[in-house]
Amino acid sequence: NGKINIAIDGPAGAGKSTIARMVANMLSYVYVDTGAMYRAATWYLKNRGIEPEEVNEVLHTVQNLGIELIPGEDGQQVHVNGQDVTAEIRSLTVSSQVSRYAQIEGLRTWLVSLQRQMALRKGVVMDGRDIGTTVLPDAEVKIYMTATVEERARRRFNEMQEQQGITLEMIARDIAERDRLDQEREVSPLRQAEDAILLDTTHLTPQEVANRIVSLSRTYW
Ligand code: C5P
Repeated sequence: NGKINIAIDGPAGAGKSTIARMVANMLSYVYVDTGAMYRAATWYLKNRGIEPEEVNEVLHTVQNLGIELIPGEDGQQVHVNGQDVTAEIRSLTVSSQVSRYAQIEGLRTWLVSLQRQMALRKGVVMDGRDIGTTVLPDAEVKIYMTATVEERARRRFNEMQEQQGITLEMIARDIAERDRLDQEREVSPLRQAEDAILLDTTHLTPQEVANRIVSLSRTYW
């Protein structure tokens, strides 16, 4: 069908989801936010009082977990066993815990297989931490997106203004800690795939970044 897959990885707050959504719209592709899947699992486990150290309990519990990404009018909705948790998974509570659950190998294996299924028919823009290295190593276009940590914290802060009592400093700390856990974990850590293109978005507008990715993709048609 002439479609390709586009993998976008990078640290927290680099603008991956904004850009991935724009690129998907421009190409009429499907956007898959894999971070939302890790967040949804975290929200569910946390609610049941299951800590990331309780690996057997985690793996047993997620067997009955249905995570759905539903494209909607104003962005993607995330459902867990039929319940809309789109807002809940963006809380600082979930943000500060998700990288601990994301270390669990069995949890990753399960989510990776769901993500691969979503990309089977191509025409997918998928963002995360291990898409180019592990989930879709054959993706035609791979981007590794970065920005300075100050710029990333500032962008996240602007997004989270509506959550009361959250300061720029809290967000900067959350981002730095998640980057550390994501880069240092044993199973598919965050890193740039050898064949990925590095895009520093610090001084670029979202439209400029999206345009670059779309023109890279066009070379495949
Ligand atoms: O992309 P987002 O910031 O929402 O991701 C939240 C967390 O989920 C990341 O910090 C990381 O710990 C985990 N994650 C992951 N692999 C992915 C996507 C997200 O480990 N592909």
